[in-house]
Amino acid sequence: MPTSVTARAPAKINLSLAVGRRRADGYHSIATVFHAVGLWDEVTATPAGGLEVSVTGPEARGVPTGPDNLAARAATLLAARAGVRPDVRLHVTKQIPVAGGLAGGSADAAAALVACDALWGLAAHRDVLLSVAAQVGSDVPFALVGGTAMGTGRGERLTPALARGRFSWVLAVAGDGLSTPAVYAELDRLRGPARGSPLVVPPELMTALRTGDAAGVGACLHNDLQRPALSLRPALRKVLDVGEDYGALGAVVSGSGPTCALLARDDDHALDLAVALTSSGTCRSVARAPGPVPGARVVPG
Ligand code: C5P
Repeated sequence: MPTSVTARAPAKINLSLAVGRRRADGYHSIATVFHAVGLWDEVTATPAGGLEVSVTGPEARGVPTGPDNLAARAATLLAARAGVRPDVRLHVTKQIPVAGGLAGGSADAAAALVACDALWGLAAHRDVLLSVAAQVGSDVPFALVGGTAMGTGRGERLTPALARGRFSWVLAVAGDGLSTPAVYAELDRLRGPARGSPLVVPPELMTALRTGDAAGVGACLHNDLQRPALSLRPALRKVLDVGEDYGALGAVVSGSGPTCALLARDDDHALDLAVALTSSGTCRSVARAPGPVPGARVVPG
C-alpha cells in the first residue's frame, strides 16, 4: 500500500445552462455544457485510524471538516461500495472558492475518489466511480471526467463534447458565496415553479466548440441561473459590464454564481481583463484559467 496518494481535480464553468421544471425530488432537470478550467483543488489521502479531514489553502475558509465535507462523503461511499473501512486522512488544498458556482466541493469529492481508489488499491471500474460520484452530488461525475461535456438529468448524465483548441478564461471571484439551493429557489420564484426552459443545448455553441471558434463560444454563453443570481446579488452586473467594456468575447455567471467567467481572445487579453477587473474593485480576486483541462487525476510522485 502506498504511504499517501495525492489527486487533483478542476473547477468547472457552464458554457450553457438551461433549467427545466423542479422535479418531485426537489432537483431541477437541466441541459448544460460543462467545461473544466485550470483552477485545481488537491486531496492527499493517507492511511489513518479513522476518517479525518483537514483543509488548507487560499480558499479554505468556510469548508466543513466533518462528515458533510464532500471529500469525506465520497470516501465513505466508496469504502462502503468496495467493502473496506474508510480509515483515511484526507487533506484538501483549496484553490477553488467555496459556494462559488465552480463546483469546488465536487472537485474535492472527485479528487478524493481517485486518491482513495489508488490508496486502497481498488482499481474500481470507471462506472463504479461515476455512480458513487453521482451519489455525492450532481456535479461530481463531471469533475471526474473533465474536458467539455453535455450534462443532462440533474447534471450527472454526461456525454463528451468535441472541443478543439484552448480557451483563455478569466474568473472573477466574489467576496461571499451564494447557496445553490437558494439560487434555484429564486429562479422558481421569479418565473413561477411550474415553468421551465426547454432542455436544449444551442447547436451554434456545439459548432463553435468543434471548430475552436472562441468568438462563437463567447456569443453563445448562456445561463438560466444568471437572472436569479443577479436578483440575489445585483452587484454582479458590474462584473459583467467590466467584461463588456474591455472587449471580452462573452461573460456569464458560472453555475449558481457568484463567480463570473469572462472569455478572452487570448492569454494577453486575459491578462488585460484580469487587470481591469482587479482595478475595478468589483470582485474579491481574479484567476486566469485555460479550458478545457482533464478531470480528476493522481498527481505523479
Ligand atoms: O447535487 P447537489 O448536492 O450539488 O445539489 C445541491 C442543491 O442544488 C440541491 O439540493 C438542489 O436544491 C439544487 N439543485 C437543483 N437542480 C440540480 C442541481 C442542484 O435544484 N440539477
